[in-house]
Amino acid sequence: MFVSNTHPDYNASLEAIDRETLGPDATDRVARVLAQRTTDGTTPLHTLPALAREFGVAAVHVKDEGARLGLGSFKALGGAYAVIVLVLEEAARRLGRRVDVTELRTADVRAVAATLTFTCATDGNHGRSVAQGAEFVGAKSVVFVHGGVSEERVAAIARFGAEMVRVAGNYDDSVAEAARVAETRGWTVVSDTSWPGYERIPGLVMQGYTLMLREALAQMQAQPTHVFVQAGVGGVAAAVAGQLAILFGDKRPKFVVVDPARAACVYESAKANKPVRIAHGEPTVMAMLECYEPSRVAWRVLGRVADGFMTVDEDDAVAIMRRLAKPAAGDPPIVSGESGGVGLAGLVRLCKHAELREKLGLGAAARVLVFNTEGATDPKQYEALVGLSPAQVLAQRH
Ligand SMILES: Cc1ncc(COP(=O)(O)O)c(C=O)c1O
Repeated sequence: MFVSNTHPDYNASLEAIDRETLGPDATDRVARVLAQRTTDGTTPLHTLPALAREFGVAAVHVKDEGARLGLGSFKALGGAYAVIVLVLEEAARRLGRRVDVTELRTADVRAVAATLTFTCATDGNHGRSVAQGAEFVGAKSVVFVHGGVSEERVAAIARFGAEMVRVAGNYDDSVAEAARVAETRGWTVVSDTSWPGYERIPGLVMQGYTLMLREALAQMQAQPTHVFVQAGVGGVAAAVAGQLAILFGDKRPKFVVVDPARAACVYESAKANKPVRIAHGEPTVMAMLECYEPSRVAWRVLGRVADGFMTVDEDDAVAIMRRLAKPAAGDPPIVSGESGGVGLAGLVRLCKHAELREKLGLGAAARVLVFNTEGATDPKQYEALVGLSPAQVLAQRH
């Protein structure tokens, strides 16, 4: 359920390419791009004093990505950002000059974008982001989904004008099909996972995620001592952990990666000291984390800077959704989807083990930061699991 990092490169500095991808200059660029999309896209940071008291820590902060850019998850920052950067680069190439992000709306740049098609495979949230980015710049998008993706999630992507393609089989089959069709049609694959020889675009996707940590640090009065982030392919965990290492070096917070026990590819990679592909098991309720092989770039970062890796069970994920929806007095109710509260579920689980707490220095002075990575991105499923609609949860705030 928990392993410490024993990777041979643990505590080695990040590779130059990863420092460039996740460093402060990169986050500046993300902020500039985001400013084109919205006037204030900052998401709230909630503080949960009752939960902190119950688990014997000084503070628990939840950065609430459910509100991100109207897309329901932090993924709004990644895929859409990558699409925008790629359009700017292609425009610069074709126009033979530097093209600034402020030119996105000009006829010249839109004419270039109109010739481009972006594609990806998705469980839901990433595809929504790619589709939204393509619509924003005036490009086309084609999104591949496997049989397990709900109709609600498909509709939420299609509303951004994406052509949707259902693929028989599982997520891996949809990834393979997207890559195959893209190759024959000359489309650009914007994947949130990387593999040998395909790192730059997933790196841009991760770069987009760095903005949420910058915002959270600015919203906190003191630096966190511990950070827990859930993992699918590990991209968001690596974006946060890598950026913390760049900003704080040896003084960085302790960082724990949290995987669903049923799809624990990052955890198993930590045990094996190298990225491993795990066998498909039963599906997990943490649908967005159901991944069977870590992203190479993400693993390269996490192997160096994450301190621990752990798993949580199905019940842990559902219990945290309910707990956040109906909190103890004094804590704000938070709408957290099936994969959203998994970092916090990791904290809760770890707090029950005195020895592990001691090992991580998770004591009375700890200030913990977690990310609610999604709101109710599938509202029907949310209500079935929590017993309240998202609106009913939020109504308790007043
Ligand atoms: C809500 C949510 N949380 C966490 C993750 C995990 O992100 P990653 O695959 O980068 O580890 C995802 C991925 O889709 C997600 O949608």
